[in-house]
Amino acid sequence: MVTNTGSVDPGPLVPAADEEGVRRRDFINIAAVSAAGVGGLAVLVPLISQMAPSKDVLAEATTEVDLSAIQPGQTIKAVFRKQPLFVRNLTPEEIAAAQAVDVSSLRDPETLEERTKEGHLNWLVTMGVCTHLGCVPLGAGEGETRGEFGGFFCPCHGSSYDTAARIRNGPAPLNLVVPDYEFTSDTTIVVG
Ligand code: FES
Repeated sequence: MVTNTGSVDPGPLVPAADEEGVRRRDFINIAAVSAAGVGGLAVLVPLISQMAPSKDVLAEATTEVDLSAIQPGQTIKAVFRKQPLFVRNLTPEEIAAAQAVDVSSLRDPETLEERTKEGHLNWLVTMGVCTHLGCVPLGAGEGETRGEFGGFFCPCHGSSYDTAARIRNGPAPLNLVVPDYEFTSDTTIVVG
């Protein structure tokens, strides 16, 4: 006779010895996964710290230029993000020459005011990279030709820039690029 008690104990599904084996295997698997997790973290940390910009890169991101020794009419060459940077102290005559140009006649129309900071019209800050094919124009160094418009002259294919470093003649399509910069004092700029 079968008596229905409501539940039937099926007994252990795995023999006791096997159950012990399964537990041990699980432990080994979990330990292996944990070790992989820790190993993964150990690899990730140096990877992430490598991805963060180093102090060198951060320092390179901006360039500080002391203007105090740059005489009117003089240009200095600095380096900004591994490229030449021109900083020119325009004379009153060079400012007047730049302002006398009919801007609508320019290939890349910009006024001197738009290319300099308010209250610092004499300070022209541009990249020293020709916008044609990237040569370094002449005109920054002592005694170098400044071309027919008195600014910069690119000897590679003959582009001439004026005293606001605007393209006036030759194959270059655009003015010398004015990078982002700001005056941090009357005699100091930080580029970048
Ligand atoms: S690179 Fe300057 S004119 Fe060609």
